[in-house]
Amino acid sequence: MAADLKKVDAQALVIGVGRGSEGPVLLDNPLPAKAANALAASLDILGVSGAADEVRRIPGIADYGVEVLVLAGVGKVADNQITEEALRRAAGSAIRQLAGLSTVALALPTTTVAQVAAVAEGAALGAYQYDSHHSSTEGRKAAVETVTIITPMAAAAGLPEALERATVLASAVNATRTLVNEPPSHLYPETFADAAKELAKGLPVKITVLDEKKLEKDGYGGIMGVGKGSSRPPRLVKVEYAPAKAKVKLALVGKGITFDSGGISIKPGAGMVTMKCDMAGAAAVLNALLAVARLGLPVKLTAWLCLAENMPSSTATRPSDVLTIFGGKTVEVLNTDAEGRLVMADGLVAASLEQPDAILDVATLTGAQMVALGTRTSGVMGDDGVSAAVKAAADRAGELFWPMPLPEELRPSLDSPVADLANIGERMGGMMTAAVFLAEFIGKGKDGSTIPWAHLDIAGPAFNEGAAYGYTPKQGTGVAVRTVVAYVEDVLSRTS
Ligand code: BES
Ligand code: MN
Ligand code: ZN
Repeated sequence: MAADLKKVDAQALVIGVGRGSEGPVLLDNPLPAKAANALAASLDILGVSGAADEVRRIPGIADYGVEVLVLAGVGKVADNQITEEALRRAAGSAIRQLAGLSTVALALPTTTVAQVAAVAEGAALGAYQYDSHHSSTEGRKAAVETVTIITPMAAAAGLPEALERATVLASAVNATRTLVNEPPSHLYPETFADAAKELAKGLPVKITVLDEKKLEKDGYGGIMGVGKGSSRPPRLVKVEYAPAKAKVKLALVGKGITFDSGGISIKPGAGMVTMKCDMAGAAAVLNALLAVARLGLPVKLTAWLCLAENMPSSTATRPSDVLTIFGGKTVEVLNTDAEGRLVMADGLVAASLEQPDAILDVATLTGAQMVALGTRTSGVMGDDGVSAAVKAAADRAGELFWPMPLPEELRPSLDSPVADLANIGERMGGMMTAAVFLAEFIGKGKDGSTIPWAHLDIAGPAFNEGAAYGYTPKQGTGVAVRTVVAYVEDVLSRTS
């Protein structure tokens, strides 16, 4: 990778180190051969391993126009083959850890347009910082402002479009993170609806907000039932993108519990502190739709944001109350902490009425998701075809999703003696029990068969309680945005 480094105006030049089978390997880089060889020979002595998230600063070579060199680990490499996701993570980790510098050049090895786009996407994701509620910026390093990518692909066909897509995706993920990070004192159904309008400004998108009076009048009993314990009333936000050239019609439904206390079935204190993240599904589908609009994809896409705050009070839904979901099905609420499925039921019925070609829903639905798949892998359930398509889209996007079944024997566990369904059932495999509940609310399409659907449970992956890693910050992660956009693109590429 030759480059005139003297023309690169950056405070630091990042090059990659991989973990080969026999120790660290200096990856293809733009340093003069002599310098590169010397550096390659000293990696071991420097204690550089090439592990993911390793970022080491060393003095550069002023004569070559490089003041500070940064060795960024990309993790395991075999035959110099680096996946797009490894590049995304290495770029993100480096840019994140170099906060405080204003200009950085990234010279990770890229031989395809997709790899350059992955570096750009990772960098934009890694530069994310939450403009928090601290009263001063003291002691905090500002995000890197300008990133230059050094690549032999600079003049390749399709690169501008790929970079545009990368920045649109990263901005959508970052906007999702910010919504998730906002404390529930500031973000509640009404202000979430306002934020949706603000984010959609200038885009060809129509937003309709159903307030509590309209929800009550139209019979959205799930959203009303969950929201009625709070002084901040619920909202259902319908976001529509309908370009004239649309080839398919898809719907998205997102869980938007701006705070989940559990309601009358109140959560223990320790389990409640992260529950500002319980609107991550709504934030993800909103921003995925806005990204699709920004990219001008030929799809009619509607997102339904099911917004409520789940609080205990004298007006709250009680365990054993019966709610009537939009469309008429009744649910006995045995546990007010299983509230996500109640608001999603309303949203899924509303989405179904428009008979889209497929529905995806995204929700931080169950703690059982984490028991089954851990904190970084989301579950996907629903029709086999849609689940497989979501999994493939996630693989392409660089997000971890895993398909899980909808075992039919779980359905009777949701039977209720007083209503059509109970809102809790079999505890073992609780992620799937919740999905089996949601399946009851998917309507029929034009041909009379049930609308193809998949449910994405992002309970763990939506919120990073640990340290930052790769391009993933602490707190809100923005998971599912890239997978949903990739799914829409994949559906379109199969349609044309
Ligand atoms: N919002 C939670 C699920 C959750 C837990 C998301 C942890 C993120 C992290 C959901 O509303 C909930 O409370 N689910 C209950 C369901 C149970 C009562 C059947 C759960 O998982 O315990
Ligand atoms: Mn809950
Ligand atoms: Zn919840």
